[in-house]
Amino acid sequence: MPNRLDLPAGFRWGASTASYQIEGAVDEDGRGPSVWDVFAARPGATKGGQTGRIACDHYHRYGEDVALMRGLGLDGYRFSIAWPRVRPAGDGAVNPAGLAFYDRLVDELLAAGITPLPTLFHWDLPQALEERGGWLDRDTAYRFAEYTETVADRLGDRVPAWITLNEPFVHMVYGYALGIHAPGRTLMLDALPAAHHQLLAHGLAAAVLRERGREVLIANNLTPVRAASQSPADVAAAAAYDALHNRLFTDPLLLGHYPDLSAYGVAEDLGGCVRDGDLELIAGPGLDGLGVNYYNPTRIAAPTEPGLPFAEAPIDGVPRTAFDWPVVPDGLRELLTGLKARYGDALPPVTITENGCSVADEITPDGTVDDRFRIDYLAGHLDAVAQAVAEGVDVRGYFTWSLLDNYEWAEGFSQRFGLVHVDFETQRRTPKASYAWYRELITAHHALHVR
Ligand code: FCB
Repeated sequence: MPNRLDLPAGFRWGASTASYQIEGAVDEDGRGPSVWDVFAARPGATKGGQTGRIACDHYHRYGEDVALMRGLGLDGYRFSIAWPRVRPAGDGAVNPAGLAFYDRLVDELLAAGITPLPTLFHWDLPQALEERGGWLDRDTAYRFAEYTETVADRLGDRVPAWITLNEPFVHMVYGYALGIHAPGRTLMLDALPAAHHQLLAHGLAAAVLRERGREVLIANNLTPVRAASQSPADVAAAAAYDALHNRLFTDPLLLGHYPDLSAYGVAEDLGGCVRDGDLELIAGPGLDGLGVNYYNPTRIAAPTEPGLPFAEAPIDGVPRTAFDWPVVPDGLRELLTGLKARYGDALPPVTITENGCSVADEITPDGTVDDRFRIDYLAGHLDAVAQAVAEGVDVRGYFTWSLLDNYEWAEGFSQRFGLVHVDFETQRRTPKASYAWYRELITAHHALHVR
């Protein structure tokens, strides 16, 4: 069986973070408020009322954090740019101090030999745009394209590849359908325009980046969907869930049309928001890479009550993370080979843009963090990637979630995903055992495949 050391020459090793989860400094140097500042301030919205006001204080400590990345020997670093730092009101005036921060970060990365891989939107929409409808409003897509121009003009000379959006599925469902994340709307299926407008934003921004000769990726949260049984009702429910979670975001990008959502009573124009020409824009000339964020598979059964056409079924008999997510490394192989089977030559090269686990990590009296659970998780998933590659999937890199313990959205600081432990009182960084393990793996792989 191929394993992680068999990953191909040139395979890129990285780590991921996101602006609101690590930066802090929410009202410094002209940053405008984001939907997350407003949502997290609502009583009861997040665990313990915790916010990203300080988070990992990365805005001030980025130098130390890049040094940690250099210590790992990373090839690439995926971070996100906070739109409200660059254009505090969403459109209108550009904030030079906000752009200057990312300029410094990019230079620091390049000096450390690390290729920056920025994501342009990881959920922190300027609040001013939310007040005009947020992603329910088509206009937000055009504002995103303008913001992309601003950032690409400033950083594009040093940044070869860009990720437009992070997980439009999770943002739509948690932010607009269920109200668990910012902006906290509970629209259920009426949230679907937020999917289309995010994809439209991707298409418009992709054109801006391509004009400048840059590569374009998008990072989708994808899950292999397993039917709870082979009964026709469970199989149909699994197909319905797959259409919503996976196909809604990959079919238009790779095939140029939306999937069949008739199980939801929704037509292919998603309630009328799809206009002529939109799908051509979304698919464009094709992606340079598909970013895949994978955490676990999903098991689906037929619904037992009226409402949605599926019900989630438990996955038993496997280890679980601190978040209670099931650990199924082979689900990543299944996902990747399934994408290849579904899209064939229309599937661009894949990069794993997120994968990792939360562990209740503690610093022991001798000052170390022994996160053996995380090491096993990462090793298992990387072996699964190597197996998918052996089965013919073109996977170019792996960016683990996350470099640092950070602000895990509605869960506050309760879920630690980092290779580096962060004490949120003192901001002290302590590399965990998984940090040393990842460094050794990267070194060994580089040595095997001399670049
Ligand atoms: C993903 C998000 C990322 C992080 C991980 C655990 O859905 O993109 O910001 O919260 O989950």
